[in-house]
Amino acid sequence: MLRRMTPTQLPSAFQQGHRRLDALLLDHQEALIALDLATARRALAAYRAELEVHMAVEEDVVIPAFEALGVEIRGGGAHYYLLEHRKLDDLLRGVEEGLEELARRAPSRPRDVLPLLKRELSLEHVMEHHETREDYALYPTLDERLDDAARAELVRRMDEREAAARDGRDSFTPRRPRP
Ligand SMILES: [Fe+2]
Ligand SMILES: [Fe+2]
Repeated sequence: MLRRMTPTQLPSAFQQGHRRLDALLLDHQEALIALDLATARRALAAYRAELEVHMAVEEDVVIPAFEALGVEIRGGGAHYYLLEHRKLDDLLRGVEEGLEELARRAPSRPRDVLPLLKRELSLEHVMEHHETREDYALYPTLDERLDDAARAELVRRMDEREAAARDGRDSFTPRRPRP
């Protein structure tokens, strides 16, 4: 598997956040199938909060560090990560709206939730593609180009930004992608 060839020093701990996101989406989907909309809504809100923490760290610390390297990667520039983040945000908003719409119709059978589950597939696909791009280009490039001290400093700043995002000291302001 190519994945094993990816240097793991830098991305390993932080990119595990994607597993937390997967788990929250599954919690949400399981609740949907059980027609437990209150739990489905709570899990989706937790998913949004986790995604925003993850994007805050990447957009405020990781992507600027990558841009500062000044490397040109075809199909792997900073612009793509930001574009995909905005796309994920749009898709998630669509799912949130779909859930509210569903709640208004008071579903009574599992088949009633299938259209929303299908809609969520696009979010899952874009997320999978995005994570792969990060794992193959963004993080390995930083890992290769930074020396040990710079890498340690980057991890320290990532941790600091994550803590500030989690306790609400510094909320997330999305960045606009520039081509
Ligand atoms: Fe990520
Ligand atoms: Fe990302």
